[in-house]
Amino acid sequence: MKVQGRHIRSIWLDDDGWSVNAIDQRRLPHHFVVERLTTCDSAAEAIRSMLVRGAPLIGATAAYGMALAMRADSTDRALDHAYRMLIATRPTAINLKWALDEMLSLLRPLSAADRMAAAYSRAADIAEEDVVINKGIGRHGLAVIEKIAATKKRGERVNVLTHCNAGWLATVDWGTATAPIYLAHEQGRDVHVWVDETRPRNQGASLTAWELGHHGVPHTVVPDNTGGHLMQHGLVDLVIVGTDRVTANGDVCNKIGTYLKALAARDNGVPFYVALPSPTIDFSVDDGLTQIPIEQRAADEVSTITGLTAAGTIETVRIVPEGSPVANYAFDVTPARLVTGLITERGVLKPDRAALSAAFPERIATAAE
Ligand code: MRU
Repeated sequence: MKVQGRHIRSIWLDDDGWSVNAIDQRRLPHHFVVERLTTCDSAAEAIRSMLVRGAPLIGATAAYGMALAMRADSTDRALDHAYRMLIATRPTAINLKWALDEMLSLLRPLSAADRMAAAYSRAADIAEEDVVINKGIGRHGLAVIEKIAATKKRGERVNVLTHCNAGWLATVDWGTATAPIYLAHEQGRDVHVWVDETRPRNQGASLTAWELGHHGVPHTVVPDNTGGHLMQHGLVDLVIVGTDRVTANGDVCNKIGTYLKALAARDNGVPFYVALPSPTIDFSVDDGLTQIPIEQRAADEVSTITGLTAAGTIETVRIVPEGSPVANYAFDVTPARLVTGLITERGVLKPDRAALSAAFPERIATAAE
């Protein structure tokens, strides 16, 4: 998508043909900094520290991490070590495992001499495929927005609420939840986005608002607790969120607070859609509540807040009394029964096993392996 009129992706291969550039998302929205990843360790650290984040981008970065590992050492031992290091970075987004399994099953049978070239080629394909998939999600999601727009008075604004950042920064390009919004905006539809700030790391306030602003999409940042009020007053036409993992039964794991939005949407008759690329489906898991590992992150993400001071410096301040314990669950699970539809690259699906397995039969086969 665009930053100051220039097209850019969240991750790309450097002109040197081997190192990998990624936007440092920890520095946004105040500073635009590109980091150069040169080793598998640096790719793993980028994921762990959330320099890159968002399920599809985590997968693409891990794939490039494997390529960087093979550049340094393409033995079996190095291959296994890279896989183990990268898989341990973050536990919830299944795209990480998907991408690493893709890389491992391709590279394992190859001779050490062939591995590096094959790894770079597959990592580039994974990144390209993500862009194509998201455009597909955009097309199908646009139809959802158009249908809702048709129920409103002629030309009246369509209000979409989103949570966290499932935008182009969370993917390679276009985003998942934002792809339909960007398409609707490009086609001249008056679409406005309610952006949940998404405490504790504020991915909505820092990243989604930044993206939408640079692309000229009307939006308003709201504290996380505002969604229910907006829905009660008819100010939300639909919710579209992203996801880190969808189970075979259609349960949706996403950024903490998503479940509360789904409950409010159900109580107010607001359609609740989840946008996902097929690598986010985990056919090996049925029950989202008991079978998905929920990442718990550092306490200081909750007990402190970071921002730009009037003097132009970035500062972190404490907002919780010294000594008060905090909990930092990074994700929650929205049961399939609260989901109106899953917007995928192959269409809008019911959130259930029959619909998911009919649309993505090839993924069931790999889950069984
Ligand atoms: O902790 P994060 O920032 O990686 O969490 C991101 C989300 O929860 C996104 O909504 C999800 O990964 C979907 S991204 C298209």
